[in-house]
Amino acid sequence: MKFFIDTANVQDIKKAYKIGVLSGVTTNPSLVAKEGVKFEDRIEEILQLVPDVESVSAEVTPDAVSAEEMIEQANELIKINNNDKNITIKLPMTLAGLEACRYLAHKGVKTNVTLIFTVNQALLAARAGATYVSPFLGRLDDISEDGVQLVSKVAELFRTHSLDTQIIAASVRHPDHVTRVAMAGAHIATVPFSVIEQISKHPLTDQGLDKFAADWQKSVK
Ligand code: G3P
Repeated sequence: MKFFIDTANVQDIKKAYKIGVLSGVTTNPSLVAKEGVKFEDRIEEILQLVPDVESVSAEVTPDAVSAEEMIEQANELIKINNNDKNITIKLPMTLAGLEACRYLAHKGVKTNVTLIFTVNQALLAARAGATYVSPFLGRLDDISEDGVQLVSKVAELFRTHSLDTQIIAASVRHPDHVTRVAMAGAHIATVPFSVIEQISKHPLTDQGLDKFAADWQKSVK
């Protein structure tokens, strides 16, 4: 399973990129709004920061409701990246989003269909040619459903029908989500930097380092 970072925060992207674990970046309107910057400017900045990752998801804005409006925005976003391939157009899981997905897929543009909450939605998005689908685990857990089980079922479905759409486990909130979606067959987990930091740590690692340091003090110099 690969890691994407789920943020529009430049410092967090830099931190994750520098430790070499980053295969992509996902953003959404809420994450960009939190940064207090212009959407297109921040996408351009991110694309420059991580030029060699497989995907940077830029989501069409909520005022694009029809497929035509989404495609128009997608065409503008693609220009930011000089038509390079790593920009991925993130589209909502609506009929219009699927229509835009089909159109962009035919043009060779990568797409990420977001706000997936059922296996059927994932199947529709894959059939519309989505490069990625983003099931939101945490938000299913929030309503007492099992988000990881959804990922597991979508992974099984894609294997059964040889669909090459990749699953981005999104709305990942804690280390246990990361382990469980990796075991469930997600291709990618998109996580905030805080989760990357959490999964890098273990109390026994810290204890071990303290002991090495203490013993080193006593060693013959
Ligand atoms: O990747 C989707 C993510 O940004 C949503 O996370 O925690 O708001 O459900 P959350």
